[in-house]
Formats: sequence, C-alpha cells, structure tokens
Amino acid sequence: MSEQWKPDSWRSKPIAQVPDYPDMAKLAEVEKTLATYPPLVFAGEARNLKAMLAKVSAGQAFLLQGGDCAESFAEHGANNIRDFFRAFLQMAVVLTYAGALPVVKVGRIAGQFAKPRSSPTEKRDGIELPSYRGDIINDNAFTPEARMPDPRLQLEAYRQSAATLNLLRAFAKGGYAAVDNVHQWMLESVKGSPQSKRYMELADRISEAVDFMRACGLNFAVDSTLGTTDFYTSHEALLLGYEQAMTREDSTRPGTYYTTSGHMVWIGDRTRQLDHAHVEFCRGIKNPIGLKCGPSSKPDELLKLIDVLNPDNEPGRLTLIGRFGSDKVAELLPPLLRAVKREGRSVVWSCDPMHGNTITASSGYKTRPFDRIMQEVKVFFAACMGEGTYAGGVHLEMTGNNVTECTGGARAISDADLNDRYHTVCDPRLNAEQAIEIAFLLAELLKKERAGQELPAVSGL
Ligand code: PEP
Ligand code: CO
Repeated sequence: MSEQWKPDSWRSKPIAQVPDYPDMAKLAEVEKTLATYPPLVFAGEARNLKAMLAKVSAGQAFLLQGGDCAESFAEHGANNIRDFFRAFLQMAVVLTYAGALPVVKVGRIAGQFAKPRSSPTEKRDGIELPSYRGDIINDNAFTPEARMPDPRLQLEAYRQSAATLNLLRAFAKGGYAAVDNVHQWMLESVKGSPQSKRYMELADRISEAVDFMRACGLNFAVDSTLGTTDFYTSHEALLLGYEQAMTREDSTRPGTYYTTSGHMVWIGDRTRQLDHAHVEFCRGIKNPIGLKCGPSSKPDELLKLIDVLNPDNEPGRLTLIGRFGSDKVAELLPPLLRAVKREGRSVVWSCDPMHGNTITASSGYKTRPFDRIMQEVKVFFAACMGEGTYAGGVHLEMTGNNVTECTGGARAISDADLNDRYHTVCDPRLNAEQAIEIAFLLAELLKKERAGQELPAVSGL
C-alpha cells in the first residue's frame, strides 16, 4: 500500500459489489459531468467534523449517527427530511442532557443511496434479475428495465443530495434547531406515547434552564451558539466512480483531497478487504472515515486496516463501527477492543446494533427485534467499560416517520403489524418512537459510563 495514492488509483485494484453497467461510455460521460458540478460539502466542514470526532475519541463528546438504510428518490420531500431532523434533534437533546456532553450529529442522509447486496441477483417465481442496489444505481421494481443499472441516476442522486443538504443546513442554522425550540421538535406520531411523556418532562427542565439563562443575559439568537447546531452528513462510500467524480483537491491545502459527496463516508462490512478498491480509495481522502467491523473481523486484520486508513494515528480520522449481532458481540468485540488499545491506536468506537440483528419474520418481512437492538447496545457499552475503552457513539437506521419495520418497542409492534407501514426500500428502520426509546437507553448508559470514568479522579483526591 505504499504506492502513490490518486483519486483513481482504486481502479487498478480488485473490487467487490460493482454494478454491471451495460453502457460504459454513458457511465464515463456521467462521471465526467459530475466532476464539473459544485462540491456538496467543503473541506473545512469535514475538518471540523474530524475535530469533533477527535473529542469523541478522547471521551469528551458522543457520536450520534443515523438515518435511512437507503434513501429513496420516491420518498424525497421536505416533510420527511424535517421529521427525520426532528427525531434526530430529540435524540440528541436526550443524550446531551444525560451525558452533559456535546453530541456530534451525523446523518445517514443526503447521499446514502448505494447498497451492498448479499447476492448479485434476485429470484422471484423462477425469474432472475439483477439485485436492487439503491436508487443511485437501479430501481427497486422487479422488471428487467427497472433493475438495469443506469448511470443517469447518479445525476439525480446528486441533485437530491444537494436539495436535502440545503434544507438540513437551513434547519440547523436558521433557527429551527435553537435549543429553546425543544418542545416544538415533538413529532405528532410520538405524542401520547410513554417516550413523549419522558421527553416532555426533559424538555420542561431544559426550558426552565433556558429561561433562567436568558434572564441572566445569555443570547439564543440565530447567530449564537445556542440558536444553531452543527449537523453533518455521511454515507457508505460504495459507488467509487461517483465518489471519485465528487473528489476535489482542497484549494487551501494543495495535494490533499476530500470526497465532497458528504462530510464522512464509511467502508461497509462487505468491502473492507485490505488490498481492494474501497480501502484504497478511502485511505487517500482526508474526510473522517468509518469502518464497519463485523463477525468476520479479526484483530490482526483490523490493525492492518487501521495502519492503512490512519497511518498517522490522527484522532477523529477513523471511527470503528461494530455490528456483530446481540448474540455475538460479547464474544467478538473484546478481542478487537484489546488489540486497538494495546497498540495505542486512536479511534472512535461506535455501535451499530442494526446490521447484526436482521431476521425474516414469519410474515416474510425482513425485520429487527427491538429487544435485540437494545441488547447489542447494552452489551457493547458493557464490553467497552470492561476493557477501559470509551463507547463513543451509536449508528442507527431510523426515520422520523411512524413506520412498522422493526418489531417490539413500547408499542410492541408484532410480526403481523409489519404489513401496516413497511416503507423501507432496504433494511428495516426504527420509527421515531423506537429511536427516542433507544436514546433514553443510551442516556442511562452514558451516565453510567461517565460516572465510571470520573471514579478514578474522585478516588485520587
Ligand atoms: C449499512 O450500513 O446499510 C450496511 C449495509 O451495513 P454493513 O456494511 O455493516 O452490512
Ligand atoms: Co442497512
């Protein structure tokens, strides 16, 4: 891996999960067009996120990352974006309050379109077609035309990412996210639930504190820290032609490159082979990078990947996102935590309790039992505490909508209920209420983690 990196050096490496485009000339033309488009994010923003993640790696902040498994062109609209943002802000405020820590907010949004698949084809009633790989590549409808990869969809994905990001920036900086709006973020669909009661109690306490601070002269205007928030975007760096086309040299630091498709990108569980294209591409861009770690991750291999992806041991550069499954995490995570700690590698450890807990319900739907999701989060925190490592974040598939995709939760969604509002085009997501329930669980764990951390200082007095 000592060869020189270039935005296209991944092209000479073996690669997994590539779509079979029928028209390579059209693909090249689209990539050329994309390369002329304005960047979606700026290098300085990606650096700011890296600095915040460095705080997470030092135990001084917590990472909240979440959003759709796959964004869909059909569901693109202001209401969905707003409701996701509201649910996300509600979760963030629960965590900030409990942990008394800054929460770094990173959406799986404004670019989360390309999906790795377990099989390149899908069979239904004896007919075999290419698998759906996300709206940036093909269409979910089960027809030969829809499933044919179409490069022009990349241009639509760019347009949608730009529009989504524009609205998110407006929400984050235009006053909507001001902490004195804490009651307004409450979603209709969550009202009346046990989570809403807990949330409203917390919001009342925050409002009292806000009134008090305002009386003391603190400023909550839209140009103040308390009147805005920082919100970042992320997605899996899977479709490397698109990522390369969006890669730009940082004009303020010649010789350094960022993918400007989002602030943070990650390498998925199926594409983290050391000598393959996805690792090659990601090693050279300067964005903060995520790396999914799953049941097949081995300590030695993980250390090699860390060497390649973060050779300077830069804090905030690399987030390891564990996704083992509630029944495997207790056994498989600690050896990785130990190896990383022993070698003194600076990383953020984050828990994805979604991807190891997917099952097929008796009704035929892909689902995730809420109890297993909760269980993986709890065991992840316990394992980190046991190894003296800071559990720094969580990575969730969630929506602000009132969907019925994951079973369980306070309203006990059953297998039979899944059919009511099963809208995901890929993996099952937590609905807003379930997401807030997870935030309250995390709040408890964070409090314990913080108390544990503070103990040595107290006993040393
Ligand atoms: C995902 O995050 O949607 C995903 C496919 O995850 P993983 O690579 O961990 O399976
Ligand atoms: Co997913």
